[in-house]
Amino acid sequence: MDSVRSGMVLGLGTGSTVKHLVDLLGERLRSGALRDIVGVPTSVRTELQARELDIPLAELSAHPRLDLTIDGADEISPELDLIKGLGGALLREKMVAQASDALLIISDDSKLVDRLGQKAPLPVEVIEWGWDAHPRFLESLGATVSLRTGADGEPVWSDNGTLFLDCTFPGGIDDARALQTELLGRAGVVDTGLFLGMASAAVIGSDDGIYTMERS
Ligand code: A5P
Repeated sequence: MDSVRSGMVLGLGTGSTVKHLVDLLGERLRSGALRDIVGVPTSVRTELQARELDIPLAELSAHPRLDLTIDGADEISPELDLIKGLGGALLREKMVAQASDALLIISDDSKLVDRLGQKAPLPVEVIEWGWDAHPRFLESLGATVSLRTGADGEPVWSDNGTLFLDCTFPGGIDDARALQTELLGRAGVVDTGLFLGMASAAVIGSDDGIYTMERS
């Protein structure tokens, strides 16, 4: 929260960690400690929460340049490359982050990995049409693939009306950049949860306190 200043256009990420930040932002705006903030939410979930708290909001198209986005992550490598998207909002998160001067990640140290894909599956967002043609392709890249479903066993739909194929790579992802190129070259893939070279810094909570990892 120390990085947030009055007058900023702020990208608001998605997930349980960011939920606390949005609560805090609402509190600071209400108390007058912060003012003139405009939030650009990355999901309907974050938008609804921010509206409840009377945080002024705008669409990305109204603010093609943002000062800062704050978001969570599912995995963080030592180089600050990320896997995101287990919360189902990766595309809007990536679009908002790419339009921002800086992307700040907030997380606990359970998300730190030596190599991406060690703990979390990689979400691949696909359009519905022909989605079941992708697993064979993804398996050829070394993944074990499952269509994301909810507690009711039904597919989980994103805010964009798309589906997620969660890809597990035994031992992790060897070359995240090469994999991203392969995946984005596949028609029907909208985007992936690989956020490479995007985060400026990560604020990490651990049993020993809070520390910051900076991009070198
Ligand atoms: C949402 O799509 C994700 O990218 C989240 O940012 C990520 O899953 C982290 O969420 P938590 O803070 O709930 O772990």
